[in-house]
Amino acid sequence: MNTHRIAVISGDGIGPEVVEAALEVLAAAASTYGFTTELQKIPAGAQHYLRTGELWTRELEENLRTYDAVLFGAMGDPAVKPGVLERGFILAMRQAFQQAVNFRPVKLYPGVATPIAGLTPDRCDLVIIRENTEGAYVGRGSTVHTGTPHAVAVQESINTRAGIERVVDYSFRLAQRRRGRLTLVHKKNILIEAGNLWQDTVNDIASQYPAVEVDYVHVDAMCFHLPLTPERFDVVVTDNLFGDIITDLGAVIQGGLGVAASANLNVDGTAPSMFEAIHGSAPDIAGKGWANPTGTVLSTAMCLAHLGEKDAALAIEAATVEVLASLPALSGPAMGMSTAGVGRAIAEAVRKGGPFSPVPGQSVIEDLAKMATSMALHN
Ligand code: IPM
Ligand code: MN
Repeated sequence: MNTHRIAVISGDGIGPEVVEAALEVLAAAASTYGFTTELQKIPAGAQHYLRTGELWTRELEENLRTYDAVLFGAMGDPAVKPGVLERGFILAMRQAFQQAVNFRPVKLYPGVATPIAGLTPDRCDLVIIRENTEGAYVGRGSTVHTGTPHAVAVQESINTRAGIERVVDYSFRLAQRRRGRLTLVHKKNILIEAGNLWQDTVNDIASQYPAVEVDYVHVDAMCFHLPLTPERFDVVVTDNLFGDIITDLGAVIQGGLGVAASANLNVDGTAPSMFEAIHGSAPDIAGKGWANPTGTVLSTAMCLAHLGEKDAALAIEAATVEVLASLPALSGPAMGMSTAGVGRAIAEAVRKGGPFSPVPGQSVIEDLAKMATSMALHN
């Protein structure tokens, strides 16, 4: 029987409650699909930081390296200055573990309310691949004459050919097993240095994937096209900051941040990958049972797909889709079930083992499982 060692970082705000719900689903999947998990809960986040002053430490990094994956809740708390935990922990992990591919599906599941009038699941089924270690996120820059009318701030964006290549190559391979369409999103008419490097890299790699049709869209135009004609997109590749922004837009289109899942993938197998919902810690609703845990549950399914447990991952996805469709609202008291209740309902459906109605469209679970196999990451 396979054992998967998963480090669990619940973090702050709604993090612990959505992670508890996901762990219940994970336990149901393990007993039903015949694998075991070895979980370690890692104390981290605002309270831990305020108590110990620790963020991302060398000891933690070494400890986490021994795991197959990291399941992450959320981080951020009003008691800690904005950005301290985000940069000091989340970005530190993405960097340290070179989780270069931020895999963010934008998939509208049946029965989920979208604010886009008339949008149907068959038209909204894409994956945004966000570069996750470079760009404006490197934290380089400086300010002079701070606090004076002459203050000048310089914020650098670092783009390396090697860094771009690894996400672009991944995106081509993904597009090749999906619907064969890759869209580069940038702002190359204005950010000409970075934009040209991205476009040149895409053009060069394109010759290895003749079956993939390549397209380019400016990021501002993307904010127009993504909500109105999501069917135009299959795999979208973009830089760190543009990816951060357009994946929130994608989340809204697919029913809100509560349902949006993501994977932070180390694609060279040198460190664990990390799986987290796209939402933040939402301290205003923490502890109320109002948070929708399905983003974290679907991220857990992505984790299992990545670790080679494809059947369990597919069952979690299908069970989540059924429960999602039954919710009268996607979060808050009107959700009709608590955070834990949603987790329990999905876990029960997984234990029953279906039959599930087929999840329409391209399966991101299959995609992740296949991509992981081709990267030979399975233990
Ligand atoms: C995300 C978040 C993070 C980011 C923050 C919390 C550091 O917004 O995962 O999209 O900016 O990448
Ligand atoms: Mn974000």
